[in-house]
Amino acid sequence: MDIRVFDTPEETAAALARRVARALADKPSLVLALPTGRTPVATYAELRRLHAAGEADFARATTFNLDEFAGIPPSHPGSFRTFMERHLFQGINLTLSRIQFLDGAAPDLDAECERYEAAIEAAGGIDLLLAGIGANGHIGFNEPADALAARTHRVRLADSTRRDNAPLFGGDVSAVPGEALSMGMRTILEAGAIVLIATGARKARCVERAVRGPVSTHVPASFLQLHRHVELYLDRAAATAL
Ligand code: PGA
Repeated sequence: MDIRVFDTPEETAAALARRVARALADKPSLVLALPTGRTPVATYAELRRLHAAGEADFARATTFNLDEFAGIPPSHPGSFRTFMERHLFQGINLTLSRIQFLDGAAPDLDAECERYEAAIEAAGGIDLLLAGIGANGHIGFNEPADALAARTHRVRLADSTRRDNAPLFGGDVSAVPGEALSMGMRTILEAGAIVLIATGARKARCVERAVRGPVSTHVPASFLQLHRHVELYLDRAAATAL
């Protein structure tokens, strides 16, 4: 794994945004996979800034988000789709038809997962996948468990994950859906390149387990050790256990 450590979360975000802009310049039809969460917010702000400065052109790019809550429509204020609109999509020039998202309100959620896998394949696969890491080692919504799903699937969210997401639902944990849809580990590991971003001391332990620990379904991010092109963008605090 290629580990890059920056002094601050801001420098980490700026470097990662430049990394994405370079990938877009090299391949304008780039297929990106994108995460939600607090960590990528600064990176998305930096990408909006680069776009405004004429340094990041998304006109021909395609995006697939890693996951979405089940049981709420894309327009729900707590949905990841709404999060992405606010933090990234509104400020860049993606073509609407090339913004791909799991629909948590689809009438048949298993069919929706299959549709997503087919859409990724039809796009030619994911070139560059950005991901955060949960303090419990999850990646996307692949939660620690005795077994992990390979493909896009329905998932029951861990209580800790629901608590982490309560801010999207006005701080009310009971309003956070209990289920979600997520790319599976194989979907993630088929990306050409994977960039994991983590900032803050809270992530130091899970980063260490993901990078140095045994490959275990109880630390889903540890499966990244099996991929040949993984980059870690860390601030100093998240790198302290390495
Ligand atoms: P966070 O979430 O960026 O809000 O810490 C990361 C994740 O759960 O993937």
